[in-house]
Amino acid sequence: MCGIVGFIGERKAAPILFEGLERLEYRGYDSAGIAVLNKDVITTRKTTERIKMLREITENGQGIPGSLGIGHTRWATHGAPSERNAHPHVSNDGKFAVVHNGIIENYITLKEELIQKGFIFESETDTEVVVHLLANYYKGNLIEAVVKAAKRLEGSYALGIICAHEPDVLVAVRRLSPLILGVGIGESFIASDVTALISHTKTVMYLEDGEIAEIKKSGIRVFDKAGSPVEKSTTEINWNIDAAEKSGYDHFMMKEIMEQPRAVRATLEPRIKNGKIKLDDISITAADLKNVNRIIITACGSASYAGQVGRYVLEELLRIPVEVDLASELRYRNPIINEHTLLIVISQSGETADTIAALKEAKGRGARVLSLVNVVGSTIAKMSDDVLYTWAGPEIAVATTKGYSTQLALLYLFGVYAAELLGNRTGEECAEMITELQNLPEQIEQALILNDNIITLAQKYHKNQSIFFIGRNIDYAVSMEGSLKLKEISYIHSEAYAAGELKHGTISLIDNDRLVIALACYERLFDKLMSNIKEVKARGAKVLATAIVGNTKILTEADDVMYIPRTNPLFLASVEVIPLQLLAYYVARDNGCDIDKPRNLAKSVTVE
Ligand code: G6P
Repeated sequence: MCGIVGFIGERKAAPILFEGLERLEYRGYDSAGIAVLNKDVITTRKTTERIKMLREITENGQGIPGSLGIGHTRWATHGAPSERNAHPHVSNDGKFAVVHNGIIENYITLKEELIQKGFIFESETDTEVVVHLLANYYKGNLIEAVVKAAKRLEGSYALGIICAHEPDVLVAVRRLSPLILGVGIGESFIASDVTALISHTKTVMYLEDGEIAEIKKSGIRVFDKAGSPVEKSTTEINWNIDAAEKSGYDHFMMKEIMEQPRAVRATLEPRIKNGKIKLDDISITAADLKNVNRIIITACGSASYAGQVGRYVLEELLRIPVEVDLASELRYRNPIINEHTLLIVISQSGETADTIAALKEAKGRGARVLSLVNVVGSTIAKMSDDVLYTWAGPEIAVATTKGYSTQLALLYLFGVYAAELLGNRTGEECAEMITELQNLPEQIEQALILNDNIITLAQKYHKNQSIFFIGRNIDYAVSMEGSLKLKEISYIHSEAYAAGELKHGTISLIDNDRLVIALACYERLFDKLMSNIKEVKARGAKVLATAIVGNTKILTEADDVMYIPRTNPLFLASVEVIPLQLLAYYVARDNGCDIDKPRNLAKSVTVE
């Protein structure tokens, strides 16, 4: 949800800003802009198109001199995507420029106050108040002005600030929105995430909420919200730039689909030692688990659908009631949560605004918080009592694939681990499940190989305007993710339905040639699902099914089948989601959609 970058050093800033922005485009891409300071003049360039256009209008940045600059790629919240609303925003005297990720919630009050003081607003954004506040408070010391301005801001922000009066400093400040500082040799960077820095430096510094960084060529000083100096340490990133590149694939999404066996292995392997699960990263004990009488999983989007799978798995293994509560709903309910509740928070980015708010709400009521997160040092990771990292590496495509798969892997690991701690499963039963978990990466690989016919299936079905997914139990949980994947990247209307529920209304939408994708891998309920397939076939639907390899009975009803290898039914989702991801990808490709950056979406939703 908006990406920001900044650079200070000896090199020309503009090309570095463009490269960083291109890596952050997944966060929002409805307009973009940069501001570069040269001597005492700030030059801005903006576009309502992609970064490519900024490159074109500035000779790849060579046409803009200056070694200090900030850049922004936007996902519009306040004000339509237009050049006027694109960042950076500049003060009336042209001396300050600001890029912002987040939402200034009290901007209307601040705007009225600033208008009274004579400031002129050029845009409809909430961000513009920040730049005028800075101009208002500046009395010869930028850090002091930022401290004063930040005190007035409510909401969430990561800000990059430059000022023509102080040509040797880049200032960054954050509250509830992500921002990372990159420490190079004689140069420094700011960015919304590591992917935008990694080609220049692997040494990073994480800013805590409220902290302000004064970034100079010679080094970085950090202050707390009152302006007092804070000691900070740096962290080394342990992955390479290739992880953030397409490596020969047409799209990040396909690269990330193909990376899933490796990613799931990276999640599982370090936590299985001598046939036992070791979750050294968390401190939950058997006594803690015995104290839990309710588990609530909260998340948004695909992460919540991973949670839907988790519900079936954890209830089965732990015999503790599990609910999945969408973070955007939980945060405004009056939820029944207390010190006997374990809240499992799932988030790839660790920065999703609704998920953060739900976490706070539950924590405030006494819940113990375990989060499953991909981005190290993210807000959710920091706010939780325990964190399990998914170790999926950077995920760039807006539609998640390896993020979801690694979240499932952690849910299984935690489930088996907790089942043994609680004494719900014997050591032997757990050992068997652990072996099955270790086989998952290979089974995912087989599912990828088995499904090379999906290109043909996509050609056959990509013109459908409305598609229903049906399933029971874990098949149903997977159908939610399959349906979301399809609709978000191919723009085809699609719904996931519990197969037994279809006849209570929705079956009236089934008519000739309507495509129903029937997930038929949960074998205990296979016959029930077959009856549901018959119901839709009888009304003229075409049926594309999933099934376990070797199942020929499905061929008596389904028009086409996508096979997957056999797994422990509890871990089925990890394998069954593979053909659904591939189908969504090829259908979107056949429909000419922008697969990695679907319209209206952003990967990291840091606003409500
Ligand atoms: C966006 C992304 C989804 C993701 C959801 C939650 O909608 O496009 O892929 O599942 O946000 O994001 P999180 O980072 O919290 O997992």
